[in-house]
Amino acid sequence: MLNISKIGFGGLTISGVWGPTDDQTSIQAIHKAIEEKITWIDTSPIYGLGHSENIIGEALKEKRDQMLIATKCGLFLGKDRKAEKNLKPEFIFQDIEQSLHRLKVSEIDLYQCHWPDPTTPVEETWEAMRELVKQGKVREIGVCNFDIELVKRIHKIHPVYSLQIPYNIIRKEHEIDLIPYCQQNNIHVLTYSPLHLGLLAGNYDPSRLSPEDRRLKAKEWGSEESITLYLAFIEKMKIVAKAKNISVAQLALAWILNNPAITSVIAGMRTPLHVSQNAAAFDIELSDSEKAFLTFNE
Ligand SMILES: NC(=O)c1ccc[n+]([C@@H]2O[C@H](COP(=O)([O-])OP(=O)(O)OC[C@H]3O[C@@H](n4cnc5c(N)ncnc54)[C@H](OP(=O)(O)O)[C@@H]3O)[C@@H](O)[C@H]2O)c1
Repeated sequence: MLNISKIGFGGLTISGVWGPTDDQTSIQAIHKAIEEKITWIDTSPIYGLGHSENIIGEALKEKRDQMLIATKCGLFLGKDRKAEKNLKPEFIFQDIEQSLHRLKVSEIDLYQCHWPDPTTPVEETWEAMRELVKQGKVREIGVCNFDIELVKRIHKIHPVYSLQIPYNIIRKEHEIDLIPYCQQNNIHVLTYSPLHLGLLAGNYDPSRLSPEDRRLKAKEWGSEESITLYLAFIEKMKIVAKAKNISVAQLALAWILNNPAITSVIAGMRTPLHVSQNAAAFDIELSDSEKAFLTFNE
């Protein structure tokens, strides 16, 4: 059993994918997370092609016992710089050695398949993941972005510790099946993109984002039409946030934290200030009427 706090530190922002970052500030943000009782950090080899794992390895080299590390396997940069999937055992066995090296650890607390690989039978993948547990290289194994059928097939072989899915106040499609299934089967639900890539923190402003910021083309931000709907909903969120004397970002995090089916919310954080602000959402409670008012309909 891992001691996973209700908020996890998301290691994607510090990789530089969402615009340029400063590595020293990223390290300070990770140290601030420890002070704020955030007990785990999520990353992947694909985040900045090892950069996120390297920074985490550097930040935690003398603090390893203070933060659980979750990383992933099965994605690599292919032709045209597009992420491609490979969950074949040979690839996983190579991937983990590189992650252990970058993270400067001998064991990973939670090792997750990043995306399903339709070219590899999932049972073969999961046997390889189980082998890593046997070898003592990982403590628990989980998956991200798997559908129910895939989770059912592997859960029989070895317990799936956790499932990572996108979920936030405006993106709720997994409430229908995956979240209830996990709850019934004791699988931890770890949710990503809680701020919809920063949009729910009021960061949607193309003039503020650098041209290499991948959010400008991300499918999550969709069309101009969907942005208009999101921005109108944020105006509603501002009403509740103001009444509670909190920020819209804190409200967005609290909305997920108030759902008992969710084990932890993974938030991408750039600075120590982001960390303190987000950690303050730990204890914010929402009433039923506030939750009802905050129903987003596309
Ligand atoms: N398993 C998967 O397939 C998968 C996919 C995506 C993400 N993830 C995980 O989930 C984590 C979070 O997801 P995400 O990065 O997609 O999106 P997110 O957490 O919804 O948004 C991150 C962005 O929110 C902004 N932000 C955070 N705290 C803020 C604050 N207090 N005030 C103002 N702005 C704030 C920052 O924007 P600015 O950059 O504009 O400052 C940051 O880059 C990732 O780091 C990663 O670990 C997993």
